[in-house]
Amino acid sequence: EAQATGKGSAFSFKEVAVGVDANHHVAEGYDADVLLRWGDPLFPDAPEFDPARQTPEAQARQFGYNNDYVGYTPLPGAADPSAHGLLFVNHEYTNPHLMFPGVVEIKDGKSVMKSATKERAAIEMMAHGATVAEIRKTNGKWALVKDSKYNRRITVATEMQLSGPVAGADRVKTNADPSGRKVFGTINNCAGGLTPWGTFVTGEENFHGYFSGTLPEGHKEAANYKRLALPSPPYAWGRFEERFDIGKEPNEANRFGWIVEVDPQDPNSIPKKRTALGRFKHEGAESIVAKDGRVVFYLGDDERFDYVYKFVTAGRFDPNNRAANMDLMDSGTLHVAKFSADGSVEWLPLVFGQGPLTAANGFAGQADVLIETRRAGDLLGATKMDRPEDVQPNGVTGRVYVMLTNNTSRTDAQLDAANPRAKNAFGHIIEIVEDGGDFTATKGKWEILLKCGDPSVAAVGATFSTETSKNGWFGMPDNCAIDSGGRLWVSTDGNNIQETGRTDGLWAVDTQGEARQTSKLFYRVPHGAELCGPCFAPDDTTAFVAVQHPGDDGPDWPAFGRRSYYEDLSTRWPDFKPDMPVRPSVVAITKKGGGKIGV
Ligand code: FEO
Ligand code: CA
Ligand code: CA
Ligand code: CA
Repeated sequence: EAQATGKGSAFSFKEVAVGVDANHHVAEGYDADVLLRWGDPLFPDAPEFDPARQTPEAQARQFGYNNDYVGYTPLPGAADPSAHGLLFVNHEYTNPHLMFPGVVEIKDGKSVMKSATKERAAIEMMAHGATVAEIRKTNGKWALVKDSKYNRRITVATEMQLSGPVAGADRVKTNADPSGRKVFGTINNCAGGLTPWGTFVTGEENFHGYFSGTLPEGHKEAANYKRLALPSPPYAWGRFEERFDIGKEPNEANRFGWIVEVDPQDPNSIPKKRTALGRFKHEGAESIVAKDGRVVFYLGDDERFDYVYKFVTAGRFDPNNRAANMDLMDSGTLHVAKFSADGSVEWLPLVFGQGPLTAANGFAGQADVLIETRRAGDLLGATKMDRPEDVQPNGVTGRVYVMLTNNTSRTDAQLDAANPRAKNAFGHIIEIVEDGGDFTATKGKWEILLKCGDPSVAAVGATFSTETSKNGWFGMPDNCAIDSGGRLWVSTDGNNIQETGRTDGLWAVDTQGEARQTSKLFYRVPHGAELCGPCFAPDDTTAFVAVQHPGDDGPDWPAFGRRSYYEDLSTRWPDFKPDMPVRPSVVAITKKGGGKIGV
């Protein structure tokens, strides 16, 4: 039976022991069932997955690669809202060495990745983007509804609309799109969010890696692209599609780096890139309705020394009129966070004409402020953070949680109160309380909930409670979720490569009372994976998680650099078949016999 640990803990389950092996592990008394795997057919006419003979056409009809964000919304009219719904999953990036047979060659004892062919690049493009899938729980087990009218694949070829202040601006016009409003595809989507009106948003993160080439000499975007480290291509798409070559299409990269909104209820809807929320390496966009009905989105820019943001809509959410909410994200105010040593946080508005955001600093209007959001934040003196990932408001307690994953580049000279550790390898979590409990407030108070890492190593300086076991501590918080009881769950990215004998996983973290700062391991991933997208069904009877890049082992694995599809991987999760590669998959966790997770 489940047992309570930790004084006053809100969680009651027997925690998983840390370790590293080929399989995933969930707490005793729970089932962790693979629900959707890379390559699973999503439509009645979609081909079965054949990894040795994959095609772009097949991939476009199958579940994509490297599932990251997972969101769930009940199917309209569902008899049980927590047993029948629409799952939205994004597909962040591709790992060619794990996807394609024979793509890694050994030359002079070293592994060399063969350069991409047009066909391989096309498969990669179709494996990116997102999936909408109708899922249903029958006799306690979830399954895809393959013939659902809602099922959808969004890829690099999907038509999208640039919406909000940047739509139609000169800097987003290209040869293929003189209107500056019509874009194809979304790439490197990391975390995301569910809006109060039941759409999903997803954040374009490391989009710089998809662009190659060189800007024309003296081009006006040079400083903009440098601030984003663009181009820096691991991807060869620029050789096959001119728009990914900034020498040929210098403005295309300004059309990526946005928050994208998708309506899962209409499979023919055109996804909207909501430019009012700024352009940077977006992690997620979790939202909450404030007391006055305006909607507040919390945003992280996952880069060392970049910023935390929040966007407050100008209009108010109407719970009785879904259509009236559909363009709320197009007008409002984007703010960037300044954390002070006195424990206050100030949200500084990024508005053209205010403060330094003027023509004197090269901004001709709000479109320029949004296209160069980072530079605007620099000028306002925002606080340079240790890689902000998910930022999650908690509607039950009124607090906001900021995952800061790590920053090993921070020096002693660069310390500040909100980022207090040099060479911060394990990251930390900041908790914010907005003034007056109002999420739209421009000021609030903050404190550090947790400094992560091994609390038994004094030099690490971790602040887990003494009730936290050797299984319970974690490093590198990335995604998080708040369940319906207001409890915090944190998933991690990077523990595999720290030679700690641990993997990434899902931890239950107490934030209240005596048990505050106590953490327990609930689920851990197979070797080489990170854990993304924790998401709870509305009644907390299912936790959906995304196991990303299983088998991508990192430099701690002896054969690092030599592993590929047919070679000796640390795992072949989840199929464990010789002719099947590892497959990133979404997993549904339920309690044996039913009931709320973690209680
Ligand atoms: Fe894609 Fe910030 O992790
Ligand atoms: Ca990831
Ligand atoms: Ca992430
Ligand atoms: Ca990460």
